[in-house]
Amino acid sequence: MQGREKVTVDDCRIIKLPKIHDPRGNLSFIEEENHIPFKIARSYWIYDVPGGQVRGSHAYRELKEFIVAISGSFDVIIDDGRKQKTFQLNRSYYGLFVPNLLWRSLENFSTNSLCLVLASLHYSEADYIRDYNTFLNIRL
Ligand code: TYD
Repeated sequence: MQGREKVTVDDCRIIKLPKIHDPRGNLSFIEEENHIPFKIARSYWIYDVPGGQVRGSHAYRELKEFIVAISGSFDVIIDDGRKQKTFQLNRSYYGLFVPNLLWRSLENFSTNSLCLVLASLHYSEADYIRDYNTFLNIRL
């Protein structure tokens, strides 16, 4: 994963988070550089997604992220320009680590789903690759 061109869909991985079972209600947590391989610079969440809507559909030049379905479920479709892989997220104690330079879309949101994203960088529009052909040119 050192060279940019070497990052593939197979570098995405589902990470199981700690789950503290408790009759009063369960608890999970995430520590930067422990459960996830980066320092957290920003958190954002996606919610109230109308049925059939798609979020994302872009790549990041440098940003890495960790995506969790805190509530409900949705699919994360990852594309490295050659191969696609779909990850279904439907548990609040599992998340998907997504390195930079991968095209990703979020689809099939269930009613009342809540998507939490932990990001390695502050928001910067300059880090986005929003055009798929530009993405392919960078990748190939
Ligand atoms: P975008 O990242 O394109 O959403 P998606 O999750 O569908 O990929 O962001 C949508 C809009 O929100 C865009 O105008 C930028 C803005 N935004 C911020 O201002 N700060 C943020 O942290 C994020 C994630 C988005």
